[in-house]
Amino acid sequence: MRSSSLLLLSFLLGMCDVQGASDFRICAFNLHHYGDSKSQNSIVMSILTKIIARCDVCLLMEVRDTKEKAVPLLINSLNSYDTDHDYSSVSSGRLGRSAGYQEQYVFVYRTNTVTVTGQYQYPDDRPGDVDAFSREPFVVRFKAPTTDIKEFVLIPQHTTPVNTTKELDALYDVLQDVRKMWKTENVMLLGDFNADCGYLAKKNKKNVRLITEKNLTWLIPENSDTTVRLSTSCTYDRIVVNGEKFAGAVVPSSATPFNFQVEYQLTEEQALEVSDHYPVEVLLKNSGLLKVGRMLGNAAFKVSSTVGIPLALMFVLSSLVFQMLWS
Ligand SMILES: *[C@@H]1O[C@H](CO)[C@@H](O)[C@H](O)[C@H]1NC(C)=O
Ligand SMILES: *[C@@H]1O[C@H](CO)[C@@H](O)[C@H](O)[C@H]1NC(C)=O
Repeated sequence: MRSSSLLLLSFLLGMCDVQGASDFRICAFNLHHYGDSKSQNSIVMSILTKIIARCDVCLLMEVRDTKEKAVPLLINSLNSYDTDHDYSSVSSGRLGRSAGYQEQYVFVYRTNTVTVTGQYQYPDDRPGDVDAFSREPFVVRFKAPTTDIKEFVLIPQHTTPVNTTKELDALYDVLQDVRKMWKTENVMLLGDFNADCGYLAKKNKKNVRLITEKNLTWLIPENSDTTVRLSTSCTYDRIVVNGEKFAGAVVPSSATPFNFQVEYQLTEEQALEVSDHYPVEVLLKNSGLLKVGRMLGNAAFKVSSTVGIPLALMFVLSSLVFQMLWS
C-alpha cells in the first residue's frame, strides 16, 4: 500500500509538471509604432500573435494606442489563437517629452503562470537629475510560482537614441530605488536600450553604471543582431539581471534575439511590416519541485505501464480529482 501511494504521488507530481511547465519565457519587443494601423492589418496581427504567444511575459514598446483599441485587439487575438493560456496586460500611461509623440510600455502576460503583484511608475524627479528619461520606466512586479526564482521585478526601458548613454546610466538609479522600495534583489532590466552601434560609443561605456556594476549580468550576447534590416547589425535590445540568484535562475545561454523573419519564412519587407526589431527573450528555470516531479513522474509512467490498466486508470482518476482540488 505504501509503495502504491508513493507511486500515486509521483504520478501526480509528474502530471502537474506535464500540465504546468515548460521553461518560462520572458520577452521584450519593440513593435515599431503599434497602434490603429498595425492592429487592423490581419497579416501583421497574426504574426505578432504567434510571436507574443511564445512568451509567459512580453514587454511591448513603442505602443501608440491613443484610441485604446489596439492593445485589446492584440489580447483578443492572443486568447483566440492560444486557447491553452489566458492573456492579460498591464500598461503605462503615455510617456514622452512632447505631447505630439508619446509611447506606452505594455506587459502582456499569461494569467495562469504569472500574477502582477505591484506596479510603479518611476517619477523621474531625482534631485540633481530631474527628467533623466524620455520614457521613464513603468516597473512591474510579478509572481511566477512555476519558476525557480518565484518572484521578480521587470524594469522596462526604450531609450532615446541620442541620449542612450545618459539614460542607461540613470537606469542604475531606478534599480537602486526599486531594490530598496520592494526589498528584493530579483530585478531584470529589459528593452530597446539602443545599446550599440552609433548610439553607445565604446569610450563611454566606463561611465555607464548599468555596465560597470558588478552585480549586473548582461545576458544578450554582444554581436547578436536585434535589427530586422539586412543593412544593420546592432545589439540594441537587451536583457540584464541583477544579483547572483537571478543570474542562476536563468537557463544558461537561453538569452537571444528571436529571428521571426527566418522562423516564419518572411521576406525582409514582410518582416519590416511587423517591426524593425527582433524581440529578445530569455528562459527562466523551472522550480525544483517541478523538476523532481518530472523525474518521479517519468518513473511512475514506466511502472504503471507494467502493473497494468486498472492501477493506471486509478492514477488518472485520482489525478483529475487532484487537479480539481488545486485549480
Ligand atoms: C536628451 O537629454 C537632454 C537632457 O536631459 C534633453 O534636454 C533632451 O530633450 C533629450 N533629447 C531628446 C531627443 O529627448
Ligand atoms: C551587490 O550584491 C550584494 C549581494 O547581494 C549586495 O549586498 C550589494 O548591496 C549589491 N550592491 C549593489 C550596488 O547593488
